Formats: sequence, C-alpha cells, structure tokens
Amino acid sequence: MDNTNEYLLKFKGYNFEKSIVDIKHLETMEDFEIRDDDVFIITYPKSGTVWTQQILSLIYFEGHRNSTENIETINRAPFFEYNIHNLDFVKMPSPRIFTSHLPYYLVPKGLKKKKAKILYIYRNPKDVLVSFFHFSNWLITLEATDTIEHYLEKFLDGKVVGSCWFDHIRGWYEHKHDFNIMFLSYEDMKKDLRSSVLKICGFLGKELNEDDMDAVVRQATFQNMKRDPRANYDNVIRHEIGTRNNGYFLRKGTIGDWKRHLTVEQNERFDMIFESNMKKFPLKFIWDINEE
Ligand code: A3P
Repeated sequence: MDNTNEYLLKFKGYNFEKSIVDIKHLETMEDFEIRDDDVFIITYPKSGTVWTQQILSLIYFEGHRNSTENIETINRAPFFEYNIHNLDFVKMPSPRIFTSHLPYYLVPKGLKKKKAKILYIYRNPKDVLVSFFHFSNWLITLEATDTIEHYLEKFLDGKVVGSCWFDHIRGWYEHKHDFNIMFLSYEDMKKDLRSSVLKICGFLGKELNEDDMDAVVRQATFQNMKRDPRANYDNVIRHEIGTRNNGYFLRKGTIGDWKRHLTVEQNERFDMIFESNMKKFPLKFIWDINEE
C-alpha cells in the first residue's frame, strides 16, 4: 500500500520527510561520487544521530573541540538525503562527514568499494518509538499523533519517516559485508561514553591525546550538549523548521523511558513482534539502564 501523505514521500519503498526532501537529489544520490576518506553516520531516526554528529565533529575539527569556531553540527556533518542548507557536497573539504537515515539499498554505490567508512548507531526500538512519538508531536513537519497507542500502530507498520525499524537495522546488518561498517549502540555510548569514543576513534583511525579525548567526552554529554547551541539543533528547529510546542531536541537522553509510556499490553505486543522479526539477530539490545 502506498502510504505517501502530506508528511511522507515514498521513494523506492522508503519514507522520506516530504517537506525537506528534493526529489532530484533522491534520483541521483546512488551515483554520488564517494571519496575514500568519506565517513557516513547512519541511523534510524531517534537513535542518537545528533549525538554522533557532535562526537565526530569534536573528533575531526579542532575548532569545534576548543570552541573557537561556531559551526552547527548539522553543517559539520550534514544530512546526505536532506541537504537543508544547500551545501555544495562536492566542494566540501576532505574528510567529509555525512549523516543519513537511508536504508542500505539507497546509499551511494561508491560505499561498496569499502574504503569510505560507515558508523551505524542503533538504539533499543522501544526507546526509539517513545522518542519518535514526542519528536513527531513537536516538529511541525512531522505528523502528530494523539496517543502512543496510535503511534505504536504507525511505527510497527513503518508509516513514519525512516519506514520500518526492523527492515532498517536488519537490512544494514545483513549487508554488512558489502560495506566498511561498524555497529555501535546508543546504550553502549550512554553507559560508557569514553570507551565508545575510543572505539569510534579506533574505527576511524584517529588518535587523540588525553586532553583532546577529555574535551570530546565532556562536550558530548547530554547536559553539555543540551546547553551547546551548536549541538542541540535548537537554532535550526526553532528558527528554520518550526515547532508545535515547547519541546527540546535533547529531550531526556536516557535508557528505558519506554517503561513510563508503554502499558503492559503494549509492551507484550511489542515483544512478540520484536521476537518474530529479530529471530537469531546477533546484535544485543539494552532495554534497561541496570542491565549488564
Ligand atoms: P530522547 O527523545 O529519548 O531524549 P536523534 O538525534 O537520532 O534524533 O536522536 C535523538 C535522541 O537522542 C533523543 O532521545 C535525544 O535526547 C538523545 N540524545 C541526543 N544527544 C544525547 C546525548 N549526548 N546523550 C544521550 N542522549 C542523547
């Protein structure tokens, strides 16, 4: 069934955010020329995208790390499929960092040469669901939903930006051998930010001295990002996109907020669907902050 509506644009089976997407770009993006040192942050929405954009901006750009330059993370690590500031990607100096919610089958073919790197960040889908529910009610460019029950239906049917969560993560994981990709979870970043940054640096081949590492970790905490106008998206969202109420992009930043939102029945239903979709899926999900 075609679920294109006022908010969604379906292209090759995947839902894009209609108001900020350029169909001409979608039609050519698979042929976009990839450089060997390009880095792509790839996520399903609400899985820690802006957090990772901030971490990579801090790792790569000294001016970001020591705050001598005031550039929004969205311009440091622009969205590949939503070029909202019309940057000239071809003229961007190397190494370029791109951010994307694309499924594995829509990214530029050049990523299959396996030189450029992909960092895939995933989050337990119950927290994704709750985060997305609030976010969609906040942003005027996304479809608002009255109750979590109704949102649960949409999410499980994939009638949201990013389409079906299960397809996104499974698609990327099942095709991981086609790419130079590392998987890292939001929850691992939350539980131990420093070792997650080290892991990321290892994958990217970047070495930071202790002071720089301290600066990255300090500026990537939830509290500090919430205060940092470069990192919290407030400028872009409040002044360029528009909101329905007084929310924040950095809303809670916790593991297990779903427990405050899902009823026992909704949770059981989710678990059943999760089980049937993720049988034998090897990545581990952390649902609770106290889990080992
Ligand atoms: P919540 O809505 O649960 O608070 P994305 O950037 O992919 O849209 O994801 C947004 C989610 O990541 C939000 O989740 C946001 O608060 C959380 N987030 C952003 N920066 C974070 C940080 N430094 N630490 C923990 N969570 C963070």
